[in-house]
Amino acid sequence: MADRPLIVGNWKMNGTRAMLSEARAIDRAAQRHMKVEVAIAPPYTLIHAVHREVEQIGVGAQDCHPGTDGAFTGDISATMLADAGAKFVIVGHSERRQGHGESNDLVKEKAQSALDAGMNVIMCCGEDEATRDAGKAAAFVSKQLKASLPAQIESAGEKLTVAYEPIWAIGTGKTATPEDIGAMHAEIRQLLIKLYGEEQGAEVRILYGGSVKPENAREILSVEDVNGALVGGASLTADSFMGIAIAAGDTLEA
Ligand code: PGA
Repeated sequence: MADRPLIVGNWKMNGTRAMLSEARAIDRAAQRHMKVEVAIAPPYTLIHAVHREVEQIGVGAQDCHPGTDGAFTGDISATMLADAGAKFVIVGHSERRQGHGESNDLVKEKAQSALDAGMNVIMCCGEDEATRDAGKAAAFVSKQLKASLPAQIESAGEKLTVAYEPIWAIGTGKTATPEDIGAMHAEIRQLLIKLYGEEQGAEVRILYGGSVKPENAREILSVEDVNGALVGGASLTADSFMGIAIAAGDTLEA
């Protein structure tokens, strides 16, 4: 298992150039907490600027088009993102799957195009509340992941990260219990081993996402097979975001 926890900030549709100072503050703080890997995915318009401003943290994108170029008004390809300085792309976020009707097949194509452009992929998955209440969360997430992940990824342990984000926990202040998180991450780990083999499957980091904050980060990040967090709202200020990164560092010492 990659030894450093990974804390990724997903800025979603937030941030103008005024936010560059926050990116710089995150970068400075990350230099003091090197036991934890820190990255942010700002909106497209800030990727290049953030890339130029920071030294330590990773910079990525929140989505990409599956193609490389062409007549796709308003879309951005993985190649363009790599050119702007992005090192990873988040794909399959529930706000894309639900808000933009993205299918597993499309998500898989996007993941492949990001890999082809030389970037890493953060593949999101997660069930809605009705599925959880019906006791079908694990089956749903396994099926969704299996259908969304490229069948073969060279060096999957390094190139791929999975983020489990129960939809009902995103931006709601609700979080899954440590038991439920542990059970789901164990299920995902088994699937990754089945898909990519014992060695690579064990190396893929599995992040938890959904209302992670400095106050609950330590408990969540202490759960077995939780290798980091994907953070929305709490990633928008350096103070709260780095509070989560520091909690991740603390779990290494605990
Ligand atoms: P949240 O978002 O931390 O605001 O719940 C997480 C995400 O959607 O990645």
